[in-house]
Amino acid sequence: MQKPTQTTIHWMIKDTKKDAKYIKDAGNIIAAGGLVAFPTETVYGLGANALKGPAVKRIFQAKGRPADNPLIVHVADPAEVEQMAHLNDTAIKLMQTFWPGPLTLVLPKKPTAPDEVTAGLDTVAVRMPSHPVALALIKAAGVPIAAPSANLSGRPSPTTVWHVLEDMTGKIAGVLDGGSCQLGVESTVLDVSDGTPTILRPGGVTAEQLQPVLGVVNYDPALENHRPKGDIKPRSPGVKYKHYAPKAEVILLEGSVAAVVDQTRQLLNQYQATGKRVGLLTSAENVSQYNGALTLTYGSRQNPATAAAGLYASLREFDRLGVDIIIAEGIPDTGLGRAVMDRMRRAASGNIRVL
Ligand code: TXA
Ligand code: MG
Repeated sequence: MQKPTQTTIHWMIKDTKKDAKYIKDAGNIIAAGGLVAFPTETVYGLGANALKGPAVKRIFQAKGRPADNPLIVHVADPAEVEQMAHLNDTAIKLMQTFWPGPLTLVLPKKPTAPDEVTAGLDTVAVRMPSHPVALALIKAAGVPIAAPSANLSGRPSPTTVWHVLEDMTGKIAGVLDGGSCQLGVESTVLDVSDGTPTILRPGGVTAEQLQPVLGVVNYDPALENHRPKGDIKPRSPGVKYKHYAPKAEVILLEGSVAAVVDQTRQLLNQYQATGKRVGLLTSAENVSQYNGALTLTYGSRQNPATAAAGLYASLREFDRLGVDIIIAEGIPDTGLGRAVMDRMRRAASGNIRVL
């Protein structure tokens, strides 16, 4: 474990007006080149001044993030996008429909976007979050904020301030506490830089919501079903890394519910017989099938919003409980379920059985 090198302040924000002084302190730190974590409606972000390359570089150091993985620039007003990116009609329509909210747009960049933000690409990713604390922070800083999720690289994204402190204490100046993130999975990354709009990462805004606005929307073929796909190079560099993973090994079971329950029981017995500590991540519908096992439920299979909200917290909780193996039950792959399954598949890192 690396030694902490600075004090990390925990600012509790109950009300953006009454607590404006703390938000201003945090904004001043960002403007001056420091790092502050903050809540968004998706997950907590780790913010730096997006206009200052050296400040952005500190994000990569704090997270242990590979330098070729670009960051999302967060704005408090759609008009700020033009500081860094070239707009087009599709982007404007999407911003009008989905902002503020969990949709990130990849656009052709202007020279003002530092290479540290774009990792040398000729595009830049931008989004306007809807969380009031995030918006207040961006305004207080007076600059756009570059921010990845506020976890150590490869760990599940943080959805509470405690997850942020677990990974970032001693490495950042502070964190604004806005409670639990409502959505629980990250924004949709949509490339609208040219040609047909393409989803590079499924997230909070679903393909079903985008389709009526765009007509046609594609998925990046490199992540089709998020099963290993030979050597097609993903257009979103972050997608190629092992991600969202707890320390335990994850086995993901998809397909017919009866077969998944059956296979879960078999694997549970098999691993327990060898002395492994097994955790089950299952739907509320099936939780009663595994009496006596260490089980966390993500709510109903039919409600991907609850599964999204609790997924990362459950993965971290299993680590805290010291399990060796997590056996997870997949959910239907539509709507927000697509983002949930994308994260589960990546946490399983190819260890997927379709039954
Ligand atoms: O909900 C979210 O998007 C959260 C909150 C904090 O806003 N942020 C987040 O950031 O998830 P991060 O860094 O964990 O994921 C950003 C993703 C990565 O997969 C990255 O490769 C991709 O966006 N990305 C960023 N800039 C890109 C670009 N110019 N072209 C393609 N993909 C890009
Ligand atoms: Mg991330």
